[in-house]
Amino acid sequence: MTSLANKQILLGVTGGIAAYKSADLVRRLQDAGASVQVVMTPAAQEFITPLTMQALSGNPVHTQLLDPEAEAGMGHIQLARWADLVLIAPATADFMARLTQGVGNDLLTSICLATAAPIAIAPAMNQGMWHNPATQTNLDTLIKRKIHIFGPAEGGQACGDVGPGRMLEPLQLVDAAARLFTSGSLAGKKVVITAGPTREALDPVRYLSNYSSGKMGYALAQAAAEAGAKTILISGPTQLATPARVTRIDVISAEDMHSASLAAAQDCHLFIAAAAVADYRPAQMSAQKMKKGESDTLTLSLVKNPDIVASIAALEPKPFTIGFAAESENLLEYARSKLQHKNLDLVVANNISDSSIGFNSDDNAVTLVEKNTATEISQRSKQQLARELIALFAQKITAQ
Ligand code: C5P
Repeated sequence: MTSLANKQILLGVTGGIAAYKSADLVRRLQDAGASVQVVMTPAAQEFITPLTMQALSGNPVHTQLLDPEAEAGMGHIQLARWADLVLIAPATADFMARLTQGVGNDLLTSICLATAAPIAIAPAMNQGMWHNPATQTNLDTLIKRKIHIFGPAEGGQACGDVGPGRMLEPLQLVDAAARLFTSGSLAGKKVVITAGPTREALDPVRYLSNYSSGKMGYALAQAAAEAGAKTILISGPTQLATPARVTRIDVISAEDMHSASLAAAQDCHLFIAAAAVADYRPAQMSAQKMKKGESDTLTLSLVKNPDIVASIAALEPKPFTIGFAAESENLLEYARSKLQHKNLDLVVANNISDSSIGFNSDDNAVTLVEKNTATEISQRSKQQLARELIALFAQKITAQ
């Protein structure tokens, strides 16, 4: 599997003769396992039609910034968030200038301004335009801003000149893009993480829930994305911002989280259940607001929710499956029993009777429980802990 497997690549095409090679590039990126959405500038459409790119990518091609229909669907912010990599090939001298200036006067430049994903450009232009001091100054600025520059190659040009300015070949661009994702310990892996509380509706205005903040699950999602994984975060209601390059699926109830997890986990390598899922839900949700009765007591009838992490651990093939055990007593004993009866590969156990760690706090201290071992990790920030846990899980799945 290449490091582009499951990656979402936004391919920007600007107006140069090399645009004809971008059609092949779409296919090559897909061969490497990436999904591709194409954005074309008006000038690019003079060289190659959106229809060609649509047929090859299997997705509608995006061409306009101020298209009400597009904004309602995959608008520039959604596209900016969707991308794991924004690759502009070919990138003309004009596009490089606009990127350098931070101009957002079309869809592609606006996406570049909005995205948190890495940006790579494959310059393609006449050698004179490439050598021009304006282009070279722009190039220096883009390099300083950590924009990746792929090429250009030297050789014969469409205009008859010979020199630097040819766009790299599609396969060379695929290799260069793949190298951007190979450094992380989870490059090429898909990770699904549940986080936050669930809410179980009693009636249209009331629910049963818990104090989970979602911080641990979100920190794990951020660490997994930083380690190069394609990361899907299935989140109950939280106040937290989505980490960069993480695809977040919002859910409310345990049943919603269950079906979203099963759908997302199909081809995943690592499943981490960090959510505090309500064990029970009201047997019936009242369609109308429940009224106070005469009696001083009220008995609620509850039914058991599906065990999400156990359903994932029962999949075939089974991803490396990790559960959390938040306990106020008998930590190791309960964690071991969870490991066994849910068929988990590892349980991260934490003691919630100490208020400086666990639920809603910024720190955590945990014990990693496996079949024959229990390893303690002392108190530290959830971000730091998440990075260490992800590095460890990465080792485990590559050793499998
Ligand atoms: O059984 P218990 O709730 O203590 O187990 C905790 C672990 O199981 C956590 O990883 C939690 O995310 C997961 N879990 C789940 N679905 C449930 C209950 C718990 O995935 N219905």
